[in-house]
Amino acid sequence: MSKDSYDAGDDLANSTSDASLRHSLARSAEIERAIEQDAGKFRMLTGDRPTGNLHLGHYFGSLANRVRLQDAGVDTLVLIADYQVITDRDGTGPIHDRVFSLLADYLAVGIDPAKTTIFTHSAVPALNQLMLPFLSLVTDSELRRNPTVKAESEAANRPLSGLLLTYPVHQAADILFCKANLVPVGKDQLPHLEQTRMIARRFDERYGRATPDRPVFPQAEALLSKAANVLGLDGQKMSKSHGNAIDIDMDADTTAKLIKKAVTDSDRHITYDPKNRPEVSNLVMIAALCTGRDPVAIADEIGDGGGGGLKKLVTQAVNDFFAPIRARRAELAADQGYLESVLRAGNDKANAIADATLAEVRQAMGMLY
Ligand code: TRP
Repeated sequence: MSKDSYDAGDDLANSTSDASLRHSLARSAEIERAIEQDAGKFRMLTGDRPTGNLHLGHYFGSLANRVRLQDAGVDTLVLIADYQVITDRDGTGPIHDRVFSLLADYLAVGIDPAKTTIFTHSAVPALNQLMLPFLSLVTDSELRRNPTVKAESEAANRPLSGLLLTYPVHQAADILFCKANLVPVGKDQLPHLEQTRMIARRFDERYGRATPDRPVFPQAEALLSKAANVLGLDGQKMSKSHGNAIDIDMDADTTAKLIKKAVTDSDRHITYDPKNRPEVSNLVMIAALCTGRDPVAIADEIGDGGGGGLKKLVTQAVNDFFAPIRARRAELAADQGYLESVLRAGNDKANAIADATLAEVRQAMGMLY
């Protein structure tokens, strides 16, 4: 895949009439060029809900991209969104273990705590306090219109909680507390970014500024991933709950067993043809991503080797690629003291940033006493 190719994105834009999506894709290409020119102009905020293990889809879909931007010199913050866990479920579950497991995944794949600030919602009070003035800037009907919230509410199949309804506002606080101007996201998060920009604008209009020359909050932009969308081993969305996901921390044997059960088709001649042979092509793509090779060349090499030949090659490619990451992850997971020190340092940095922003907010609102 060439660096400038937005193939996956083109598919996405063609399948929808949404002009804002098309605009975001074009803007993303421009932003990538601006990062090459001067990465120092960008502060990026991304995050994950700590609800389960990260898998190969997360790796190629977003984690690798974060590491690339971090290493290109973009000032990076990564949020372990622990308060978002309770938007659509009762209780926090094994949250403590999940937070540290997510942190170990991050560090194992190359998110570098010397360059990137990793922190949790619950440890940064000033971030959460921003939610209060922000809620005053949105209406009930704006909240209820958000298509991602609607979809999540339907999927959760339970009464809509106040926190699920308002979590895009909380997410605006995630982005704005650190004045991020760049948010790498999937297209499902675009409505949230739209709400974030609106909140930033309305804050300026309604509450004014801490200093006369510039608004308290910048306009944050989405950076849509140009990465291929990796599917699960059955051709459906890769997800732990579907049993079709290769976890980053899975061992080689379990990985081999899972891939053995992957869905293929009856044509023994392997080709790379995502439209007509989605399951086979997805496996070829996984091997291509893990080896850095061209998917068509991989399919040609397997030729008449059938599903068996394909699965053998994919297993080898995945296990070879993830071996050093898994080894590093095992070391990290065995050193709880180190993980705790990384999170503490990240939370300290996030708190310093959040306190400074909240002071500006209170100044703009005339609430500094
Ligand atoms: N909602 C995101 C997800 O489910 C996680 C997240 C929380 C996030 N806060 C964020 C993403 C701020 C980007 C910016 O994956």
